[in-house]
Amino acid sequence: MRRGPMPSDSGGDDGDHVSGVVGYRVEGGIAFITLNRPEKLNALNPAVFSDLDDFITEFNDDRDAAVAIVHGSGRAFAAGADIEHYVGISVAEYAQFMRDGNRVQEKFATSTKPVIAAVHGYALGGGFELALSCDLIVVDPEAQLGLPEARLGLLPGGGGTQRLARLVGATRTLELIITGGRLSGRQAVDWGLALGLGEDENVLEAAKRLAHQIVRQAPLAVQLAKVLVRSAFDTPLASALALEQAVGAMLFSTDDAREGIAAFVDKRVPQFQGR
Ligand code: COA
Repeated sequence: MRRGPMPSDSGGDDGDHVSGVVGYRVEGGIAFITLNRPEKLNALNPAVFSDLDDFITEFNDDRDAAVAIVHGSGRAFAAGADIEHYVGISVAEYAQFMRDGNRVQEKFATSTKPVIAAVHGYALGGGFELALSCDLIVVDPEAQLGLPEARLGLLPGGGGTQRLARLVGATRTLELIITGGRLSGRQAVDWGLALGLGEDENVLEAAKRLAHQIVRQAPLAVQLAKVLVRSAFDTPLASALALEQAVGAMLFSTDDAREGIAAFVDKRVPQFQGR
């Protein structure tokens, strides 16, 4: 199994956008959102949140991208909020910073198209929370995930107490937060929180493999599956099942469903239009 530092993968095509702290490029239907402060282990500061906000919006509007992969350059996914930014700021400024982070994470969670977090190295605090707001997490077995804010006298403020508890339960979440412990990528896979790597893959390759599989599916079916599965967390079962029925019937009326069924019968590859 190949591991070690992540290739920076910062692109180089004409369509690339690299703000300095975050990169965005699209290739083969996949948008790559690259956290790009490797010298600070991709710590999240206001400029990073602002760029992530811009690029997730760009991804949503990008007709060439069906799925996004967010990943970190250098030796970490992201080691959390930029602690240096906290020095000397007011409570109001801190609260605003938390709101900015939450807004970005909510945009990832509610993006119309799926987002995969490719996690290697450290994913701590806000870095872990950013991954938790994505639809799928692919993780290197040696990665270290955690919510160490209590050691700073703080709490996870980007959904860590809520999103993680919904995914793995209260006991595991609380233990991580109040002990400041870390979870290995291997454990995250065992917990069902993340997906592991295939033979000889690094985490970005594994995320691309998944993304390529997603790109081959009918776009509307993928997008609506995301909406339905996410609603499973907080919708009463009867309502959620009724929604599933209604959405399923609506999809049956789409061109893509006709095309998918016809392609199966004709034994050919479907050509989806996203309508
Ligand atoms: N905020 C600001 N800077 C950070 C950072 C963060 N969350 N995490 C790492 N950095 C910086 C370090 O200060 C260092 O910068 P420097 O070279 O200018 O001194 C650089 O990134 C490399 O980190 P370093 O600590 O030297 O690497 P390491 O391998 O020894 O340790 C960690 C890695 C992740 C264990 C350690 O950096 C750490 O504990 N970071 C803070 C994690 C955290 O508490 N996150 C939650 C924040 S709310």
